Amino acid sequence: MCGIVGAVAQRNITPILLEGLKRLEYRGYDSCGVALHVDGQLQRSRSTSRVADLEHQIEEAHLKGFTGIAHTRWATHGAPASHNAHPHFSPSTDNARIALVHNGIIENHDELRVELTALGYVFQSQTDTEVIAHLVDHMYNGDLFDTVQHAVKRLTGAYAIAVFSREEPHRVVAARQGSPLIVGLGNGENFVASDAMALAGTTDQIIYLEEGDVVDLQLGRVWIVDSNGKQVQRDVKTVQAHTGAAELGPYRHYMQKEIFEQPRVIGDTLEGVTGIMPELFGDGAYNVFKQIDRVLILACGTSYYSGLTAKYWIESVAKIPVNVEIASEYRYRDSVPHPNTLVVTISQSGETADTLAGLKHARSLGMEHTLTICNVATSAMVRECKLAYITRAGVEVGVASTKAFTTQLAALFLLTLSLAQVNGRLTDAEEANHLKAMRHLPVAISAVLALEPQIIAWAEDFARKENALFLGRGMHYPIALEGALKLKEISYIHAEAYPAGELKHGPLALVTEEMPVVTVAPNDTLIEKLKSNMQEVRARGGQLYVFADVDSRITSGEGVHVIRLPEHYGLLSPILHVVSLQLLAYHSAVARGTDVDKPRNLAKSVTVE
Ligand code: G6P
Repeated sequence: MCGIVGAVAQRNITPILLEGLKRLEYRGYDSCGVALHVDGQLQRSRSTSRVADLEHQIEEAHLKGFTGIAHTRWATHGAPASHNAHPHFSPSTDNARIALVHNGIIENHDELRVELTALGYVFQSQTDTEVIAHLVDHMYNGDLFDTVQHAVKRLTGAYAIAVFSREEPHRVVAARQGSPLIVGLGNGENFVASDAMALAGTTDQIIYLEEGDVVDLQLGRVWIVDSNGKQVQRDVKTVQAHTGAAELGPYRHYMQKEIFEQPRVIGDTLEGVTGIMPELFGDGAYNVFKQIDRVLILACGTSYYSGLTAKYWIESVAKIPVNVEIASEYRYRDSVPHPNTLVVTISQSGETADTLAGLKHARSLGMEHTLTICNVATSAMVRECKLAYITRAGVEVGVASTKAFTTQLAALFLLTLSLAQVNGRLTDAEEANHLKAMRHLPVAISAVLALEPQIIAWAEDFARKENALFLGRGMHYPIALEGALKLKEISYIHAEAYPAGELKHGPLALVTEEMPVVTVAPNDTLIEKLKSNMQEVRARGGQLYVFADVDSRITSGEGVHVIRLPEHYGLLSPILHVVSLQLLAYHSAVARGTDVDKPRNLAKSVTVE
């Protein structure tokens, strides 16, 4: 992944680059760096700590410049060490000529490395990025724009790059193929960045570069060519990007704040929904919903689990068959396409590389009916899909997704009802009841949040464990999966989820007195089956931590700990139960002292495959 910012201006740009990096840290935070053109030389500062540390280094060194690039890294090739941090220089001498930052993966980096080493280039890092820097230097002909256009033809893989040369002090050249990049137009100054948010407050005049574009940024001029070298005009959009500079308020971490924002953001996401109608998803949705007879959901990570939950809803309520696929699998497997499929992508960021590629793959197979549930209205996902529902979770800072997930579920429930309506499977009375339940969600979630003190007490136990199992059945099985994912990603406790009926087919072998088994136990039609599964755990000494409903009729006893959610919430119950699991993961991580908002090795937005 990684985040890129670059600028050509007539003022010191270090504050703009540093602010941009802070806002791009969601794309990775293994290291960061800035390179500037200073008095005819390239100078850089790099850090394996956070941007605040880099800022300190830059202040100490009095580093200032009018032209430069900056980068925040999520390591792919080479450890998160300072010699692997971007920007990379070429040649690797005191008098470097080229500085370059990169987001993506260069697949032919090995052969290029061999070629460039034979030419005498000395590599300082293990990154695939350094080969691009040396390649650009090797091909440099005094015109960086022309050079980069030729150099990128040698690259296989995905990239967004920004590069500048010691010899052309007022020029930054950038290019993209498979990784996002935008241009920001200022007054006599120009910028490039991985997203518009990085430039919020600097400019709102944004050009979204297209695949294969190469852009020449000079002081009063922006020139774009496409992959054929032909000059192109791209639309300039006015983008009111949110700065993401949300205050923590009374909370200790953004994740906690975002968990507690859920009543409000679900209300926001459902605001204006006065009735169920396909047009909630965009003009022409009725005709699309009328034509389709199956649904294919593509997503990654937490968004994939919201898709799995939606499968239970759509098949049960709208009676339309649903296939949910992990996008990185779908894009490469041989599948059997069907033109009457509604392809639904789910994404918080709207820029996850695998989900975007999965969408394109589906389209290439002739499936043209595309819809996205997405949290970023200006994202590639929304631009690429015909229909969209924009969730209104607001900026999610914590890497572990919480409010984005529950707002996705709210939107997916609306989709379920809209499909059911078009399919003649929703009576007026049912519509009214569902709408009433949805409107009451903020209150119901607040009641779950009030259970925090009880959950903190459980988290103290969890913090001492190294493994945990999560069980659920039916539409709460994806919620168990999401609970396990939350716990492992922020507390580093190994956690796995199973449909409770599968316990006896393997995971029961792991159950001892040391094994906490979290059970999602709403009072639904499967509750008695689930109770039998819980007995299987107890018979092996396993410790049950049960999230029940007010009327699940499960009582605490030896080895059985119960927290009761105040309401049983029918079809929408997954939205309530996941909140309790988010709190459990959060407080377990806090008790273990991990970096909750920026867990190791992860990133918020995954723009490489
Ligand atoms: C990363 C994030 C997850 C997210 C996943 C998919 O792994 O850490 O929280 O669920 O990407 O991201 P998307 O933006 O497509 O929902």
